[in-house]
Amino acid sequence: MNTTPNEHGITHLRHVDLAVPDFATQRTFYKDTWGLTEVGTDGELSYLAAEGSPEQYIVRLRRAAEKRLDLIAFGMDSTASVDAFAQTLAGRGVQLVGEPAALQTAGGGYGFRFFDIDGRTIEVSADVETRRHRPIEEREAIPVRLSHAVMNSTDIHRTRDFYAAVLGFRLTDTLYTPHMGQVMHFMRCNDWHHSLAIAHGPHPSVHHVSFEMRGIDEYLRGTGRVLQAGTKKIWGPGRHTAGDNTFTYFLDPSGNTMEYTTALETITTDEWHPTVYDVTQPGVQDQWGIADPFSEIVAKDSFNDPDRGVFVAPPV
Ligand SMILES: [Fe+2]
Repeated sequence: MNTTPNEHGITHLRHVDLAVPDFATQRTFYKDTWGLTEVGTDGELSYLAAEGSPEQYIVRLRRAAEKRLDLIAFGMDSTASVDAFAQTLAGRGVQLVGEPAALQTAGGGYGFRFFDIDGRTIEVSADVETRRHRPIEEREAIPVRLSHAVMNSTDIHRTRDFYAAVLGFRLTDTLYTPHMGQVMHFMRCNDWHHSLAIAHGPHPSVHHVSFEMRGIDEYLRGTGRVLQAGTKKIWGPGRHTAGDNTFTYFLDPSGNTMEYTTALETITTDEWHPTVYDVTQPGVQDQWGIADPFSEIVAKDSFNDPDRGVFVAPPV
């Protein structure tokens, strides 16, 4: 992956933090079924790393009465970029949760949190120590790294414009249906086709979080293991046209959609022209032709519950 910083110094997606009422069940799911490694817990928080990723953790679970997205974290290239970005955001009227400061989480670093235009808490950080990681082996069907996060929004164009104008993300591609209009914007902050996507939904909430597997074989083996564990599958296996990545979507025990993917396209030219794909056309949603047709029922499975964390910073 090329993590050349974008115009503000943002390099990549670091982790997604979720609050869940069924903490014990979720811990077991992410460790034993999904294939992450718990690297720390105090009984209220669980930090889950991917064996192939240098991130200290890629998912944080927090025990809470109410399910919510706690935050999405992005890396930055330097503490100077963090400070400059905080000033830029404040100058544009973006609400900061706090001023830049030393992070208290594993690996340390320096960062701050703010609310995006829909009220999600976003964290940016630099100088976080990397975790000792290793190559994932052939046929080892556990996540290599976090791939991307997709968030529901009631106005995907407004959210796209915020991420473009304020965070410097660039639009890669868009999905639409003749019936519903434009339903998803894919956005990038490095050469991956998307690290973030914005999906049309009835309320702000998590649409899905995606985990990169080593290759097609490992992706299919992982899909099989998660299925055999009795996890509800929403859609897939298949291979999207936008992003060229494979997909299998599942519902985790608290109803957040999680995806195994591999082979996400990288964008190596500055002259990329976003395409608007009609997802009702044959082969667009699944080039392989083996997944069920995309439908509004599939779409609704990932609407999720209204997020209780909108414009409310998580306690930790
Ligand atoms: Fe995805």
